[in-house]
Amino acid sequence: MECPMPKTPLIDALNGIVSARPPIWLMRQAGRYLPEYRELRGQAGSFVDLCLTPALAAEVTLQPIRRYGFDAAILFSDILMVPFGLGQHLRFEEGRGPILAPIQTAADIPRFDPEGFHAQLGPIYETVERVRAELDPSVALIGFAGSPWTVASYMVEGGTSRDFARLKTWAFADPDGFDRLIARIAEATIAYLDRQIRAGAQVVKLFDSWAGAAPETVFERAVIAPTKSIVTALKRDHPSVPIIGFARGAGAMTRSYVETTGIDAVALDSATPLAMACALQADRPVQGNLDPMALVAGGDALRAETDRIVDALSAGPFVFNLGHGIVPQTPPEHVAELVARLRG
Ligand code: CP3
Repeated sequence: MECPMPKTPLIDALNGIVSARPPIWLMRQAGRYLPEYRELRGQAGSFVDLCLTPALAAEVTLQPIRRYGFDAAILFSDILMVPFGLGQHLRFEEGRGPILAPIQTAADIPRFDPEGFHAQLGPIYETVERVRAELDPSVALIGFAGSPWTVASYMVEGGTSRDFARLKTWAFADPDGFDRLIARIAEATIAYLDRQIRAGAQVVKLFDSWAGAAPETVFERAVIAPTKSIVTALKRDHPSVPIIGFARGAGAMTRSYVETTGIDAVALDSATPLAMACALQADRPVQGNLDPMALVAGGDALRAETDRIVDALSAGPFVFNLGHGIVPQTPPEHVAELVARLRG
């Protein structure tokens, strides 16, 4: 008799299999809302040091799995490690977020030197190996990167922005130079995700958190085109690794994003109407989209919002998640209640 292959509910759902009990994981499931994270974060020194110390980053990745039994672990790192690997100065300041030395013209676009890049980011690949070795086979390991447009926003603005004034002005005023920046980030991202997959990531997710800031023509050049090139390159070498795309705020552009990039599944933000989610689900698995503040609120509101999403989407291939990352003020017991409700 053959031994049955271990079931991995997340990968099954991403391959289009419908299950009575949808798999669950949460964006930013490792982080400041967990006391065990805050304790370890205090020991690490800086956030960048935490991301580049495999023993600590692996431990932080596993913390939410131990506590809640999610169906997937997501590598603990940050989308800004790609600019860091390209040599851009990066630090995280308490209360302010990331700060980078901004680049503003085509002359400042960093070169992609694979050897130096992988040397800088090698500890991240080691974290992936360590986590995969510790995880139960039923729990999928997700690798990730930011999408070029969102990563470019931080590289050009020097941090989080409200209006993306420098980024968009560059995109309009010097389209050739800007497209070269986007292509350079895409090239590094392909190499980075290839290494994560080789180290043990079984699924990859592309985070385009600021996709909603791109007007139509820029969306096509800077969101769709590089996403398609990343997906095409990864599919050539790793055809069975599912790719989840998250174009937050893409709204009416979401359908074209899904249909033209080749992503295997689409992660939806909380503003996406469930009727639209259902329509997208007719040709692709969907992931989402509980509002993170409903998880903060808890109680009846959390139950009602959760049931509404599960009722609408669990007849098709579906992964339960939030529409954006968990916020630090989330009571950890609300997460436990959410998981219990899904597992019913
Ligand atoms: O658990 C997980 O989801 C894995 C780890 C992860 C982090 N960042 C850890 C983190 C992932 C997948 C990310 C992605 C990320 N990082 C995105 C895309 C998703 C999204 O939220 O839109 C973006 C835009 C970033 C950039 C970033 N990193 C910002 C703007 C900030 C500062 C804001 C904040 O929350 O502090 C970070 C810092 C960051 N990344 C923290 C964590 C746990 C908090 C830093 C700390 O602990 O000091």
